[in-house]
Amino acid sequence: MDNNAMKYYKIIGKVQQAISKVSTLDEALKVGLQVILESSAADHAVMWYSDPKDNSKLHPYYWICPLDLSSVSYAPGIGAVGQAFAKQSPVTIINFQETPEPVTEKDLEGINVSSLCCVPFSNDTRHIGCIEFIKTVETGYFSEDDADVCQLLAVMTELAINESALPPENWSDRKTILSVRNVTREYKNGDIITKVLKGVNFDVFEGEFLALLGESGCGKSTVLNIIGGMDKATSGTFSFMGKDMSNANTDELTQYRRDNIGFVFQSYNLMPNLNAKQNLELIAELVDNAMDPLEALDLVHMKEKQANYPSQMSGGQQQRISIARALVKRPRLILADEPTAALDYTTSIEVLQAFEQVVERGTTLIMVTHNEEITRMANRVIRFRDGKLYEVTVNHKPAKATDLVW
Ligand SMILES: Nc1ncnc2c1ncn2[C@@H]1O[C@H](COP(=O)(O)OP(=O)(O)O)[C@@H](O)[C@H]1O
Ligand SMILES: [Mg+2]
Repeated sequence: MDNNAMKYYKIIGKVQQAISKVSTLDEALKVGLQVILESSAADHAVMWYSDPKDNSKLHPYYWICPLDLSSVSYAPGIGAVGQAFAKQSPVTIINFQETPEPVTEKDLEGINVSSLCCVPFSNDTRHIGCIEFIKTVETGYFSEDDADVCQLLAVMTELAINESALPPENWSDRKTILSVRNVTREYKNGDIITKVLKGVNFDVFEGEFLALLGESGCGKSTVLNIIGGMDKATSGTFSFMGKDMSNANTDELTQYRRDNIGFVFQSYNLMPNLNAKQNLELIAELVDNAMDPLEALDLVHMKEKQANYPSQMSGGQQQRISIARALVKRPRLILADEPTAALDYTTSIEVLQAFEQVVERGTTLIMVTHNEEITRMANRVIRFRDGKLYEVTVNHKPAKATDLVW
């Protein structure tokens, strides 16, 4: 057996071992792609998927790559991805920079691509999509052997996928409500400049639960505060419902927050001299078309505590009141910054169930957390590291709050 064949078999063994330990296709793709990246020469991998209802577009289904590809799509024949899909044969580009076509890969703006290998895959009845393996200038170029390994890995992924049948998804219905582009945030202290955000890009879709994950100090709260109109980016833009908010003045930002955003923080910030219902009424009076405070309390299962003052409620109960307070405005978007960080496990789950209600009602939710387990509830997870996106993952079947364990 030659070296190359040995290499294949080793990788196959590792991927099979990793996949045998998981129970869902999402987890299989995640660990499969992770093992593939550890074992192969590739730095990033993207699985593109063509929606059976709309075969004219390829959408990203799963990726390990520091870019938010959620809004990118390719028509068959366009770019290396679309070409591999249309021809149903692999497209390998060893030197991406020197290849005039198909270098128009709009998904790859932002990383320094050296080589690409795109491998199509299908099941018995249709062409499903394409797996794109990416190598960056920082790590050199693919060899011909590497490209062979990539093709083999794509075939294995195809087999794994065909065993578990992809859930159908209606990609074309997704509506972007918020876009963050090239956002940086710096702090100046005398001559010292601290770069907290170093060029952040992502989109938020209407009705989704998006989790922002990362170690303490990596810039999560800073991102959330910029989106919430409470802090200003040093450079870059963010737009809400298509409107650029980056140059909004203080009054416009106040209006934006009042009309569209509900906030939930780690600390509950309830008025101590008002009872639960009065805390909600205070907000309801500020906006047109507010929700009945009792209806909001009912959504978080706190109606029976309506007459309690904050000091008469546990931390978890106070947090559920603050979720109800955020809901009263009927905001389009709820921003929650580590809402369970101060709570024990059992009360955290109760609070997360309240958030589950929020999402089920169709309200978009962005939650910052450093607890990886909580992110299993989200539709998408953006992991930050050192002021930048590190990884974006998709949960096609989000977990229930009651399934979480930590
Ligand atoms: N006013 C400030 N001056 C200087 N550095 C700051 C200031 N505010 C926050 N930072 C720094 O920005 C970084 C990111 O903060 P933050 O967004 O709160 O992180 P996270 O929410 O991920 O824990 C931290 O290293 C923090 O020390
Ligand atoms: Mg924070």
